[in-house]
Amino acid sequence: MASLTAPIHIIYASTGGNTEHVMEQVAQYWREQGVTVELHRSEQTPLSVITNNKYFLFATSTWDHGAINPFFLALLKEMKTADFSGKTASFIGLGDRRYEKYYFCSGMTAIKEIWEKSKGRSVGVALTIGREPFETVIEEMVKKWADETLPLYESQAQGQAT
Ligand SMILES: Cc1cc2nc3c(=O)[nH]c(=O)nc-3n(C[C@H](O)[C@H](O)[C@H](O)COP(=O)(O)O)c2cc1C
Repeated sequence: MASLTAPIHIIYASTGGNTEHVMEQVAQYWREQGVTVELHRSEQTPLSVITNNKYFLFATSTWDHGAINPFFLALLKEMKTADFSGKTASFIGLGDRRYEKYYFCSGMTAIKEIWEKSKGRSVGVALTIGREPFETVIEEMVKKWADETLPLYESQAQGQAT
């Protein structure tokens, strides 16, 4: 069972429901490990959800040749002026591998850059998901990522406790 006592807040933007579906999967895996997980749609999320908490997963799909999902724009603008010292986040992007050369999941990269510029700590590998051939392939990728990433939040929590 996981040792993380504070919740992980998943903040995501999704238009057609793909990112939302993947976030629900991650939430389920982490809850099965005993972690409290709260899901937030980005367009309904005030900056205070980030400033008042410590652990996050940010996720977005990418649209229109490299643009972040528009549902994330207002929150992202506010994130530019914040100080996220002492907070930890991981990242997932959904996109289409046809954009691999230039714009694949670049919406997610934009959030990660602003997070890090605002002194947030990033953990794990930022997972990118294209239009993979089968639902089960995505499920396996997501489960593996969720299993590998959860302990990284726990090490941050232990580091801060000592
Ligand atoms: C008009 C259009 C533009 C897109 N542009 C990009 C893009 O620039 N880069 C990318 O990686 N994926 C792009 N995609 C793929 C979407 O990000 C992908 O379908 C994703 O799963 C949508 O997730 P959502 O339903 O959570 O919004 C585009 C899709 C459409 C229909």
